[in-house]
Amino acid sequence: MVATQLLSVDPIHPDAALLAIAAHALRQGALVAFPTETVYGLGANALDPSAVDRIFAAKQRPFTDPLIVHLAGVEQLDGVARTPPTVAYSLAALCWPGPLTLVLQRADRLAPNLAAGRPTVAVRVPAHPVALGLLRACQLPIAAPSANLFSRPSPTTAQHVLKDLAGRIEFVLDGGPTPIGLESTVIDLTQEPPRLLRHGGADLAPLLQLLPDLQIPTRPLIAAESAPAPGTQLRHYAPHTPLLLVSGHAAAAQNLLDAALETLSARGLRAGLLLPDEELPRYPRWAERIVALGPGEAPEQVGRTLFTRLRQLDELAADVVLARPLPQTTAGLGPAVQDRLFRAAEGHTVDAETPAALSTLLELVEQLLPGRMLTCQSGERTV
Ligand code: TXA
Ligand code: MG
Repeated sequence: MVATQLLSVDPIHPDAALLAIAAHALRQGALVAFPTETVYGLGANALDPSAVDRIFAAKQRPFTDPLIVHLAGVEQLDGVARTPPTVAYSLAALCWPGPLTLVLQRADRLAPNLAAGRPTVAVRVPAHPVALGLLRACQLPIAAPSANLFSRPSPTTAQHVLKDLAGRIEFVLDGGPTPIGLESTVIDLTQEPPRLLRHGGADLAPLLQLLPDLQIPTRPLIAAESAPAPGTQLRHYAPHTPLLLVSGHAAAAQNLLDAALETLSARGLRAGLLLPDEELPRYPRWAERIVALGPGEAPEQVGRTLFTRLRQLDELAADVVLARPLPQTTAGLGPAVQDRLFRAAEGHTVDAETPAALSTLLELVEQLLPGRMLTCQSGERTV
């Protein structure tokens, strides 16, 4: 156990004296959580293997999942990456500071454990005055994954960080809620053609102008599949309460969800709902069991509070949560929001438009909560 100190800083004009305290701690090998424009990061000196080891220990993160190195500016890129390609500088000019992470060949001076033994490194320049102020003050590349316990939703407030990591890290700089709310977009430039590893806070459309051959997976990358990429494990961003996604048209979903909530309560289970705002009026009977996602047509808005909503699900005192995705879109933050919802549900999806949807849903719940469902009445399965 270490004592965790919370330092409140102005998110626009952070106090230089407070940043100096945190920067000094980083230079001494301490762990400091700080806000970025995406989510809170858990920072350590990227040149110090034992400080980097402490990140993995504090987060309970497997050593096989590499960390992102944060820089104060593109001029530091040569110090952490070996011979970055020209397109890296073009992307940096377009997006940095900002929510784009580039995977490049790693420079030898970085702690090797931050990259999980890979010859590569993920790098970004964050667009948040507190993060940038801290990076400038400590004059070091800072390794920083999201400041949550492994597989939990990423933290978008200092309170989320404390909930997961109090007693495990030295400092939290509290700069209020993070503006984007979803992690950065990750692009691997060490592969030919370059590959999108994670949908995130950067809009892909302008990036595609510079990377016309970018490989974009058509469905979420899942580590269990044949070409595992780090950080693509399915269980991620997950609330403690199991989550199940119900796809299909809103009217079909309404029928299925109404029947499912009723059947589940008859069997002694309480189900909650996670819904885009426009679907709320369809469920007047279950109003006190609903967490609203925000307007489905505005993924930017949904993204800002998504991880807070996922954490709120655990306050519903539900045994299971049935969630509706946002309307499909490839624009803006739409794909990133869909990806996080899919992972929060560990990939469990039921299509409301299939004939046996209710029994499929009940079987999935039984798998998620083995032995918890009361034995069904004979014939009930055919509802
Ligand atoms: O917005 C963000 O990216 C936040 C803030 C704090 O900057 N950070 C963040 O870090 O989300 P983390 O560790 O939670 O996610 C980093 C992602 C993981 O999916 C990891 O596997 C991938 O980047 N990554 C890191 N280094 C990599 C590498 N060398 N090759 C491939 N993927 C890498
Ligand atoms: Mg993370």
